[in-house]
Amino acid sequence: MTNNQYKILSRRFDRNDAHNISVYEADGGYVGLKKVLSHMSREQVIAEVKESGLRGRGGAGFPAGVKWGFVPEDVEDIYFMVNADESEPGTFKDRFLLDYDPHMVIEGSIISSWAVRAKLCVIYIRGEFGWLVDRVQAAVDQAYAAGYLGENIQGSGYTLNMIVHKGAGAYICGEETGLINSVEGRKGQPRLKPPFPAVCGFLDKPTIVNNVETVASVPDIIIDGASEYRKHGTEKSAGTKLFSVSGPVKNPGIHEIPLGLPFNEFFHEWLGGMADGEELKAVIMGGSSVPVLTAEEAMETNLDYESLAEAGTMLGSGGMIIIPERCDMVELIQVLMHFYWDESCGQCTPCREGTGWLHRIVKKLRKGEGTLEDLDLIENVCEGMAGLTICPLSDAAVMPIISFLEKYRPEFEALIQNEKESISSSRWAREIRS
Ligand SMILES: Cc1cc2nc3c(=O)[nH]c(=O)nc-3n(C[C@H](O)[C@H](O)[C@H](O)COP(=O)(O)O)c2cc1C
Ligand code: SF4
Repeated sequence: MTNNQYKILSRRFDRNDAHNISVYEADGGYVGLKKVLSHMSREQVIAEVKESGLRGRGGAGFPAGVKWGFVPEDVEDIYFMVNADESEPGTFKDRFLLDYDPHMVIEGSIISSWAVRAKLCVIYIRGEFGWLVDRVQAAVDQAYAAGYLGENIQGSGYTLNMIVHKGAGAYICGEETGLINSVEGRKGQPRLKPPFPAVCGFLDKPTIVNNVETVASVPDIIIDGASEYRKHGTEKSAGTKLFSVSGPVKNPGIHEIPLGLPFNEFFHEWLGGMADGEELKAVIMGGSSVPVLTAEEAMETNLDYESLAEAGTMLGSGGMIIIPERCDMVELIQVLMHFYWDESCGQCTPCREGTGWLHRIVKKLRKGEGTLEDLDLIENVCEGMAGLTICPLSDAAVMPIISFLEKYRPEFEALIQNEKESISSSRWAREIRS
């Protein structure tokens, strides 16, 4: 099996000129948009995307076409937002799409906006991705100049404007209602759901929020059809997916895989196995918010939504973190708990207080000042945090720490018994922190 045959979303990543509209058009770009505007109804586009089985690539895996179908028929003002906040530790796929192939994202966003009758599309880019804002804005300007955006697009009577909005560097603005509040100029804090944004979102009007990779998948589905898209992947996890792989393997970086690929095969044949002198200890499959798998568990699972759920974790955003044997798991979880505590927006007490408690307990353990009761306290605090808050950030802190404690408990206990030098900062964890 070669990995080149699955380069669909990433097929232009090895070119340095595809961000120019002329190059994109010469490679078949904007053909999907022309097809929907001239030959398809909105219902046909939504039906094709539903049929393709495309699931949201931002983390939750909700079927894109089903979400589009929730927009009420009788409302005029509808909005579409592209979530390019990409702040989940371990995840760096969307920035590749925006950097190397911004027109594929823009074309997918226009088709998606048209399908849901949106009059404005906002691309919300993570604040730290300053250079990408310029890159995407330049591509949007080219799309306006070519008549793919603005009034009466390609003579179809459809008018769509597109805004590139730069965030201010808050992880929580990646949560879709936090993102909407941020675009409205409010504090980037999530809203209670229901109502869901598809019914009541930006300015209390129907708003669809989709991830960058989700919308980038749309043009090919329109051009080649749902059945072609379904040639890769499994029945319930259709298509290919970008994984951003970090950690000491021979070939880290972005890999586009057919969903359902066994991890064992991915690890050995695509990633080339561990770098010299390293041994695999554990894998975080879908970004820092999902439960960790031991090396043995990872080797037995496949990379699709259902198999990973069965293995007790999630595909999430596809941010795969490979953890070597030398990694101190308590130090790693301290880094992650600091992240969630720092990024909690603070409006729910269980999350605001709980993330702080988790971070403080792990810090205390690593100082050699912990007790066995502290391990019970971690579980106790987590019980008071899971499923009880406005958004899932609280659960996103609970899931990793509970799995670390369950699977690597001896490392926590060793700190209590002072069997180990507790502040031995490993190089690997320092790299993650930076
Ligand atoms: C704390 C938090 C952060 C999130 N960050 C992102 C993000 O950076 N990018 C993203 O696409 N989705 C993110 N999500 C998920 C979004 O809320 C939403 O489900 C997603 O943008 C929907 O797009 P999709 O259906 O195409 O996946 C985040 C969710 C939470 C709870
Ligand atoms: S769970 Fe945390 S991040 Fe989410 S809304 Fe509540 S306080 Fe904010």
